[in-house]
Amino acid sequence: MSKEVEVEREIIITGNWKMHKTIKEAISFVKELIPHLTNEMHHVYLAVPFTHIQPLSKECLNSSIIIGAQNMNDANSGAFTGEIAAKMLLDIGAKFVLLGHSERRHLFHEDNDFINRKVKRAVADGIQPILCIGETQSEYDAEKTHEVLKSQLTECLKELDEKQLKNLIIAYEPIWAIGTGHSATLEIAQAVHRFIREQLGEMFSEDFSKKIVIQYGGSVNIENAKNLLDQPDVDGLLIGGASLSLDTFCQIVNDRQLNQISKGSDI
Ligand code: PGA
Repeated sequence: MSKEVEVEREIIITGNWKMHKTIKEAISFVKELIPHLTNEMHHVYLAVPFTHIQPLSKECLNSSIIIGAQNMNDANSGAFTGEIAAKMLLDIGAKFVLLGHSERRHLFHEDNDFINRKVKRAVADGIQPILCIGETQSEYDAEKTHEVLKSQLTECLKELDEKQLKNLIIAYEPIWAIGTGHSATLEIAQAVHRFIREQLGEMFSEDFSKKIVIQYGGSVNIENAKNLLDQPDVDGLLIGGASLSLDTFCQIVNDRQLNQISKGSDI
């Protein structure tokens, strides 16, 4: 029997800037954004290029914006030309890191095993992981969404316990929705988020699954953001293209400020 416990989850909206903006452009973006945010604001995270982490962390020090990275290596140090370690990111002020983004998986051939090692490193070193999962168009068409997500969750979170994963964020990003202008429908997003929460419940505990923030990503824009966030199991957004425009991003995060909704759901 499921426990009827009401659990409040934070709303976390993450902008993923990918490989965009110079440091100068990034600083002027956050300078303009900060005055629009208040303490009641739901959390705003920005995943920025490595070179931008330190200047932006300083710029955002007394604001509610949290700065993080878009990737990292699983090793502590070593001969890994071009890579970066969790402790180096922490050193320059990063508080979180995206792991397993579909562009990392597909363009740079990262597999679940590698991503699992990165999640282990992130939790061991104390940087908050945002684990990205999602199915391709052909997997979606073949009705393999649940199967794919289940194996991504199982393999990326293997040999980790709920205590280690207490700060974990999951981002569900159907690959067919990323950068295509075709976001998942509200029904699909809610149903898949519920499925992910149920899987986490089976893998860990129901209590754990109710506390985990599950973000939706893939062609989020001004028109669909609020409706997506209104779904009971959608606790945040991972926004690519629409996070690059100050007006658009500001409007998306301020909608939440006006509503001041916090989430709770029962399985
Ligand atoms: P998009 O990207 O919002 O431009 O679709 C999302 C992402 O890749 O995280």
